[in-house]
Order: sequence, then structure tokens, then C-alpha cells
Amino acid sequence: MPSLDDATRGRILFGGDYNPEQWPREVWQEDVRLMREAGVNLATVGVFSWAMLEPTPGAREFGWLDEVLDLLHANGVGVALATPTASPPPWMGRRWPETLPRNPDGTVRTYGSRNAYCPSSPVFRSFADAISTDIAARYARHPALSMWHIGNEYCTVCYCDLCARGFRAWLQTRYGRLDDLNEAWGTAFWSQRYSDWEEVIPPRQTQYVINPTQDLDYQRFASDLLLGGFKSERDIVRAASTDIPVTTNFIGFFKLTDSWSWAPHEDFVSLDSYPDPSDPDAARDGAMAQDLTRSLGGGKPWLLMEQTPGRAGFRDVATPKRPGLNRLWSMQALARGADGILHFQWRASRQGAERTHGAMLPHAGPDSRVFREICELGKELTGLSGVLGARVPADVAMVMDWDTWRAVELDHQPHSGFRYIDRVREYYTPLWRANVTVDFAHPEADLRRYKLVVVPNLYQVSDEAAANLAGYVERGGALVMGPFSGVSDPDERIRLGGYPAPFRDLLGLRIEEYWPLPDDQPLELRSELFGDFTATSWGEWLTADGATPLAQIASGPLAGIPAVLSHAYGAGTAWYVATLPAQEHVLARLLDVACAKAGVQPVLPDLPPGVEAVRRGDFVFVLDHNTCSVEIRNG
Ligand code: GLA
Repeated sequence: MPSLDDATRGRILFGGDYNPEQWPREVWQEDVRLMREAGVNLATVGVFSWAMLEPTPGAREFGWLDEVLDLLHANGVGVALATPTASPPPWMGRRWPETLPRNPDGTVRTYGSRNAYCPSSPVFRSFADAISTDIAARYARHPALSMWHIGNEYCTVCYCDLCARGFRAWLQTRYGRLDDLNEAWGTAFWSQRYSDWEEVIPPRQTQYVINPTQDLDYQRFASDLLLGGFKSERDIVRAASTDIPVTTNFIGFFKLTDSWSWAPHEDFVSLDSYPDPSDPDAARDGAMAQDLTRSLGGGKPWLLMEQTPGRAGFRDVATPKRPGLNRLWSMQALARGADGILHFQWRASRQGAERTHGAMLPHAGPDSRVFREICELGKELTGLSGVLGARVPADVAMVMDWDTWRAVELDHQPHSGFRYIDRVREYYTPLWRANVTVDFAHPEADLRRYKLVVVPNLYQVSDEAAANLAGYVERGGALVMGPFSGVSDPDERIRLGGYPAPFRDLLGLRIEEYWPLPDDQPLELRSELFGDFTATSWGEWLTADGATPLAQIASGPLAGIPAVLSHAYGAGTAWYVATLPAQEHVLARLLDVACAKAGVQPVLPDLPPGVEAVRRGDFVFVLDHNTCSVEIRNG
């Protein structure tokens, strides 16, 4: 199987999306001259070119793309060539309206933007496969071709009758018999029992709250359906070229597509990363998405497919990256395992929805701060090729699960503000600030190589995952678990007998009731370990059954109930946090204790706040996210 190595060939990839179809040919000459000046060695081409390549159904206009690829090659720039299928031409929606996606209320999302297609439509599929086949046949042996870029940021969900049919087939594979679906979905509730497969439909607009398992299964189906489209195009390009790696660009923590199930189908994983430069925690968010991307690829090098060199046009307030910030965040990606740094996009568009989005070559042209910084970055990266292929060691695994994410955010949960990614962030943040490198892991993954496992939330859990986590601790592992975990099974059936049923023995406790709280009624807590602190939104009516309380609730109906506990289990230790501490130092202290017990060390100790250290192979990257200067003393 080809890998990212086949594209890097000894150089860190550097460049961005290139959309020459938006410009007259004279501009192309300037583009390649400036690409050379900037040290660009890879351009992503063709992502949104479908209407230019197939102006009418079945027609082909490849001449301009031939020229673009030849021109790039002549100037030493490789190509990530896209199947242009993320955005069908208007003729498709007009001639075949059933290719347009439908909302849950039956209304249609029409053409005029992008991504407007029904992923179940055989007409869409056959046109998408046909253009992919012809592109693959024409360019598979082109010397500029470095990688295939399938589609773009898969994100379309549709609720039409074709999708309903596909959903039923998907459910038949999952459940077999209709009775088993009725059982899994709990259709005895509210007279929902199905007597015929034809009655089963997507979770469309209805009178009141939709069946939660139907909703959850549709989210799973929607991810699998899009993955099917990806695989169809991947197989087409692979049939034409066995030596060119294939990827698609992930969006990091993106709920619709379950990246654990997608990643094994790519030759390497790519990330589009757009933290908000005006957010003081943006560097943390960048690191977190990068760690996820590396983990999805099993630790292998990955590609930063997109970041903006300036501002991200989709933001309400599109603050640009300050001088030096694009370099800093590029180094962060390199430190966390990227073998290439690409941008959206090369030349700023002057028309269209993204006309205000930043670019390597901004509207101001080459005489600009942004372009000068791009040139400096290109030069600097040529000196860092020693990191290529090197791994990023991590002793801590953070469990991250799409099923739990979807399930914990279904309707009628005890607190609608309980957001999964907030929980992940709360546990990731102190580890990031302490310069402890984290991998992300699926709940059923082999965790033996990690010294510490952190489970910010695992609301929904399979029997296998529960056994996996308990077994990890029993054999001597250290594990920290956050609130509202172990509640339901994969059919969204509540596990009975006291929460968290599959983790009661592991954690040495039993919970009778969850106790969500309005924001203006925080809990007060007392603790020798953490000092007094408060917690918001969440409490649990909990009884210790072998676990040692480390913090206790001091007021209100839960007064006297422990909210942080530790428990020796088998040869290991588990900690449980039954609330959401409002002060960051509480989880920081707890994770510090857990790291000390597990023997987890920071990459470098005692760095000033805002300084990030990451080890990659023989390199240690030290990144200063502060805007004022800091001093670091060696030794
Ligand atoms: C995404 C898309 C690009 C572009 C950028 C703008 O990442 O893949 O096509 O829209 O966002 O930020």
C-alpha cells in the first residue's frame, strides 16, 4: 500500500489548494513563478472543478486541467488531485432534482452553493464515478501526481425516500429481523412498533421528540453512506494507480463522520484545521485536533491539508492570524506528526462565497506581510526534513468515541448543555498545559502501551469497551473517568441497577440519580487535595462502595456526597469525577496525581505558561504561544 512517504519523497510538503479555473491564463504564469519563490511543492487541484470539467452531462473538458498539471510539473510543484465530486454542477440538480438533498422537513437544499447532493442518489453516484474514472485514467501516470484527494470535507446528510430505502437496507444488515429492530429501538414506547420494513423511515420532522435509537442509527448510517461514496471513488483511483496514496480531508472533531471507521480506508489521514486566532485557547484546540488526526492514522505521519494563512472567511468576526502565528501553528502541526503543511488556499479568490477568506497570496498580492511570511515558512521547512516519518511518543490515551458523542447529545438528556467535546477539552487542557502528550483512542482499542487512560465521558458504552477499560485497570493501569459515563448500551438502552452499571466495580461506587443544575446554582465542594472549589451544571447522587472520597459536596440537597473518588482495582487505580469543576486547577491537580502515580512525565518540566513542548523522534519542539517574551533556562 502506498503511504504519505510516496508523496513527500524526502521533503516536507508545502503549499495549498489551487483553483486556477477562477483566473485567466496570464495569472497562472504568475502563480507558478510565485509558487517557486515561496518554495511551494504541492498544490491541491480540482476540488471544486466539476462544472468546468463536465460543463454539460457527459461532456469532458480536460484541456485546461492538462495545462495546469503540466505547468505545475514544469515548475517543480506536485499535485494532490481531487475527484471533483464534493460539488455537482447545476445541470445535475435541474435535470435530476432527486439528486438534491432533502431536509428532515422534506424541503430541498438546492444548487447554488456546494455539497448539494443526495449521497444515496444512483444518478449522482454514477456521474461522480464516471468523472472520477475519467480523471483517474487521464492523470494516473501524470508526473505531477503526488496523491489523490477524494471529495472534500464529507458533510451532507439527506432525508429523502432514496435515503430511507438505503437506511432500511443498512438496518437489515445491523438487526436482521424487524422484531430485532423493534426490540433495539424500544418501539413499545409511544406506539412506535413497526409491522413492515416499509414503515421504517429516517428521523424526519415529526410531532414531538423522535425515537432516540432511530436518530442515533441514522447518524451512524449517514456516516457509513458517505464513507461508501468515498470508497467508491477511492477504488476507482486505486484501480488506475497502485502507487499513489489516497486521502480525504477530515475536519478534526466533526460529529457527522465517525473518523475511527473512516481512517483505515485511507492511505494516510489529513486534517483541515481552523482554530480561531482571537480565542486564547486556539493553540490548545489546534493541538487537540492534530493529536486526534495522528491517532486516527495509528501514529503514522499525517498531512495538514488546510489551514488559513490569514483569516477564515466563515467566521462572524474573521480575525487574521497575527504576524508569526501561521508559522507557529505550522510548527505545532509538524511537532505533532504532520509531514506536510498546506493551506486553503494559494491565491485569494476575488469572487464567490469565499472572496474574503485568507490565502497564501492575498488580494494585496506578493507585496504583503502574508506572502512574505509564506516565503519564509517555505524556506524554513526545507531545513526541517529530518522530522519526516518520525513518530510522536505518548504515554496517555484519551478515549474518544463518536457513538457516545452522538448519544449524549440526543434529545431529552438530563442537561441539554452537556456537550461531548466540552468534556474532552476539559480533560485535554490540563494535560496540554502540562506538556504531557496525548493520543486519542477508541474505547475498544488495545490500551496496554499507555501508562494512563483518560475517559472524559463515555455515556454510551459497549460491553466490549467496558470490559476493555476494566481489564486495563485490573492489569495495573491508571484510569481517570468523567461524569455521566457507562449509562447506556449501543442501542441506547439504559443499563439498570444503579449507574454506571458496567463501571460500578471498577470505580467502587454506585449512582442513584443524576443531578443536573442550572448555571446560577453551582455546587460548593470541599477537598483537602484540591482546596474548596465550585462545580457547575452537574451533580450525581452517589454512594462510595469501596472508593475513597477526594472531594465532597458541601451544600444543597447533595451535601455530604462525594464528587471525586479514587479506587484501587486489581493491580491498578481508577479515579472518578462526578461533576464539572468550574476551576481548571481541580482537574489539573487530579491529572497531575494520576500522572505521578502512573509514571507519566511531561516532555519538558516547568516551562512557563503558554510554552508548549512536543517530542517528535529525536526532535523536541518548543513553541511559545505568548505574545510577550519568556525565558527558558536549560537544565
Ligand atoms: C474548508 C474547505 C475549503 C474551504 C475552507 C475555507 O476547509 O475544505 O474548501 O471552504 O474550508 O476555510
